[in-house]
Amino acid sequence: MTHEWNAAEYEVLSAPMTGWGFDLLGRVLEDRPLGGSESAIDVGCGTGRVTELLLRHLPDGMVLAVDASGAMVEAARRRFAGDVRVRVEQVDLLRLEVQEPVDLILSTATFHWIKAHQRLFGRLAGALKPGGRLVAQCGGKGNISRVTRATEEVMGEERFRSRFEGWEDTKEYADPETTWERLEAAGFEEVETWTHEEPTRFGSVEELARYLKTVVLGRHLERLPEADHQPFADAVATKVAAVEDPPTMDYVRLNILATRGRET
Ligand SMILES: C[S@@+](CC[C@H](N)C(=O)[O-])C[C@H]1O[C@@H](n2cnc3c(N)ncnc32)[C@H](O)[C@@H]1O
Repeated sequence: MTHEWNAAEYEVLSAPMTGWGFDLLGRVLEDRPLGGSESAIDVGCGTGRVTELLLRHLPDGMVLAVDASGAMVEAARRRFAGDVRVRVEQVDLLRLEVQEPVDLILSTATFHWIKAHQRLFGRLAGALKPGGRLVAQCGGKGNISRVTRATEEVMGEERFRSRFEGWEDTKEYADPETTWERLEAAGFEEVETWTHEEPTRFGSVEELARYLKTVVLGRHLERLPEADHQPFADAVATKVAAVEDPPTMDYVRLNILATRGRET
């Protein structure tokens, strides 16, 4: 299930995700550089900040940037207007279909928003040429557990409880072993999966609340009237800040490298 994003706020606040994308691409493409004319898809491109980093490696390539959010797609289209290498489309990744399979799929900070990882990996395998590469990073097992706990506590408060009746958590913070198995089952080879921690500090509770509203709590806030958005985010941020000063998000990233098998 996807939700709408505040693309303008995400553009301002997404420095952590952009930095991790930069590190991942640097490390992976240093080991096995691209030729520069490959075709690629950035799945879950957001406003396109990480897509832009990928494009530095593809001076003569083609990139299809896809995202389920209309606001994100609009922002990415504005960013790449006039760049003939880039096409941006609004697509739910669980329905991804391409006319021409590509050499590379990149994804950052997206897979954990999708519960059905096995289906997702099947779609991605279908969009890659045999021998094509998947390079991805998303939230992994244990990701922002401090924030999740604080959010659950605030959802249970008297003032918010009725709004969350029937709530189902649709996030998937998978572990490396399960992800490895799912990728193999989807027809990937040379699979590598591992997690690493990225504790991320904020200057104040207010700064953290602003970040949470856009980057983490979007689905929750859809359940609440506008007037409750700020109080909800403030309450979660205050609980997170009570654990550690300065307020810190306990990010755990799941890294994924894989090659689409030649036999599938
Ligand atoms: C945190 S943003 C990451 C954006 C960008 N890749 C980055 O690293 O900054 C997650 C993105 O995943 C997209 N997304 C979530 N579920 C999706 C789905 N089922 N299909 C396509 N995009 C999805 C959201 O719309 C959002 O733009």
